Amino acid sequence: RPVRVFGVPMDLGADRRGVDMGPSAIRYGGLTDELESLGIDCEDGGNLAVPSPSQTDPESGRPPDGRAKYLAATEEVCRRLADEVAGAVDDRRVPLVLGGDHSIAIGTVGGVARDRDLGVVWFDAHGDFNTPETTPSGNVHGMSVAAILGRGSFAGSDWAEASGVDPENVAIVGLRSVDDEEAAALRESDVTAFTMTDVDQRGLPDVTREAIGVAADGTDGVHVSLDMDFLDPTEAPGVGTPVRGGASYREGHTAMEIVSRKLGRDLASMEIVEVNPILDDHNRTAELAVELAASGLGKRVL
Ligand code: ARG
Ligand code: MN
Ligand code: MN
Ligand code: MN
Repeated sequence: RPVRVFGVPMDLGADRRGVDMGPSAIRYGGLTDELESLGIDCEDGGNLAVPSPSQTDPESGRPPDGRAKYLAATEEVCRRLADEVAGAVDDRRVPLVLGGDHSIAIGTVGGVARDRDLGVVWFDAHGDFNTPETTPSGNVHGMSVAAILGRGSFAGSDWAEASGVDPENVAIVGLRSVDDEEAAALRESDVTAFTMTDVDQRGLPDVTREAIGVAADGTDGVHVSLDMDFLDPTEAPGVGTPVRGGASYREGHTAMEIVSRKLGRDLASMEIVEVNPILDDHNRTAELAVELAASGLGKRVL
């Protein structure tokens, strides 16, 4: 199926500058050529405009009892991203969104879920399940899953909740850094969470298949959100919040190959986030992002 790529040079949701250059680094890594070489019709929809931190008020949009830096500006970008993504879906193209920090998932999911029931598989070292009330950092990239599900002060905010995604159709894979209140919230929620302990004990293929089953059960499609910190920092050093003990190079490919094999046409959209070329080693994290996109979209050895 044809693809449309969007870059979102977003860094308002994370503390480290440089993640705004992620889309350039991934394009420089050869994304379009690689997908075209697989016979995929790949169109570049360009980058969305994102204001720089100095242009926007970090306090604007902050809920009364919580913290969330740059919430109003992040919300505005996510609304525009949702419209672009929904346009790609209308044109029967699979949206492939390049970050930027993980806050952009709120826009991607908002757009893809507009006219269908959507499941989500979220590959990440982190839960991204904080709310403005529980966040230790104030960074919105640590809140995207909570925003998508309308938790805490995201309840009733149309930009975050309009997706209608059911927590029973959300699975997170690769967890190894979760804040205390975030962990309690995850445990009491209907989200399915696979930690690296689960991966160690059952193996990543088994866990990935179950995660896809959760997301696909009763839905019209599945969004795959890949935070590059899902991978071990030895393979993906160019991320803002690296955590030791992540997926290996081979496991990353295995997970994406299972995504492509098991989901096929039910893969609604894909997103690769948190690539930070400033922190990277000769663009290897962006190059790995290109490889994983190709595996997820159907590349096979034979
Ligand atoms: N849990 C931490 C926080 O809330 C880190 C989140 C990291 N998220 C990410 N998308 N890399 O700030
Ligand atoms: Mn919906
Ligand atoms: Mn993460
Ligand atoms: Mn994340």
